[in-house]
Amino acid sequence: MSLTDKIPFLDLVTPHMELEPELTAVFHKVLSTAGFVGGPMVENFEKAFAAFCDAKNCVGVASGTDAVRFALTAAGVQPGDIVVTVPHTFIATTEAISQAGARPDFIDIDERTYSMDVANLREYLERECYLDRETGKPYHRKFRAPVTAVVPVHIYGQCADMDPILELARRYNLIVVEDACQAHGAEYFSQKENRWRKAGSMGHAAAFSFYPGKNLGACGEAGAITTNSDAMARTMRILRDHGQSKKYYHDMEGYNGRLDSLQAGLLSVKLQHLAEWNRKRQEAAARYDKMLASLDGVVAPYQPTWSRPVHHLYVVRVSDRDGLQKRLAEAKIDTGIHYPIPLHLQKAYETFGFRKGDFPVTEKIALEILSLPMYPQLQPAAQERVVQKIQEFASVGVLR
Ligand SMILES: Cc1ncc(COP(=O)(O)O)c(C=O)c1O
Repeated sequence: MSLTDKIPFLDLVTPHMELEPELTAVFHKVLSTAGFVGGPMVENFEKAFAAFCDAKNCVGVASGTDAVRFALTAAGVQPGDIVVTVPHTFIATTEAISQAGARPDFIDIDERTYSMDVANLREYLERECYLDRETGKPYHRKFRAPVTAVVPVHIYGQCADMDPILELARRYNLIVVEDACQAHGAEYFSQKENRWRKAGSMGHAAAFSFYPGKNLGACGEAGAITTNSDAMARTMRILRDHGQSKKYYHDMEGYNGRLDSLQAGLLSVKLQHLAEWNRKRQEAAARYDKMLASLDGVVAPYQPTWSRPVHHLYVVRVSDRDGLQKRLAEAKIDTGIHYPIPLHLQKAYETFGFRKGDFPVTEKIALEILSLPMYPQLQPAAQERVVQKIQEFASVGVLR
């Protein structure tokens, strides 16, 4: 790599060129059988992905957004319910909650892990809700509606602290849907069970996105839900297919939310490489960690002892984020911001009446976070250049 080469934020071309013969073979098979919807390619991928996640069932769907929505509906979330999640996530999480008919509400994040702060969830349930004696469910005092589900987001490829979330969910009868859209293969050490658990195997259900830039990405749009519940899997299969239990027998109104056979076939090829790609991301993250450790003013990602992340994104924090991003862009280094505007302050949620200051941790970090280039093929020399440019910027004292 020369000193003037552009360093992209992610490289989607190289893996597709490396796998071109296998991927085009899938395309030829789909063309020659005209098996475009459903069939063995979808079923085989679902089996393989369920096994990868240590989950009993996998239901392929059209996107991660559909995955969150179908999981909530199949788990029993009803129109008018409240579903809590974090304001520091992609809007798809809350879109899916609204599409399931529920009202999204927010719990602020932990400043080190950037995922749901369990103390805040406990406080929300204790202070803002009362327990309805008849249903055993928490009711929100102000909204006069039941809080029925929680959606922890495994942000940037690191699991949320699931043991205490699951414990609170048990105590308050909450459905837990993991948003694992950024966390294919991430692991969490459960003290309670004294074992490592895979993202997608811990909640009542979990949603995955296979948007192209994800750790496991389709060549288009795709998603999946994993669940250990056979009943929920059955309902989700019906929901994704116009509510049909068999052709033209509609048990309910559903959606056109199926996973394409072509995408399923392509995903099956890529799934065989996912563990290796995740390992390479972990190596790249460890290299960044080491190089950044000596830099004042740069907060590297925090990895608790209970976490084995898969580094979908490698996010640092600095005081002059916009200045650093500009300086890196001048050096032809692409970066991203995930996410610049907290969800509660988005125009789309204006009518909810949230204010600046409602979720201070999310608001603070939204101004400081910067996602550095991260992908399995990222070369050590490129990372050295990224860190060198950060160092040059830090050395003039602007990051303190
Ligand atoms: C945290 C999170 N949730 C949900 C989604 C939605 O996935 P999709 O884009 O496949 O609908 C994404 C994808 O960007 C995501 O990052």
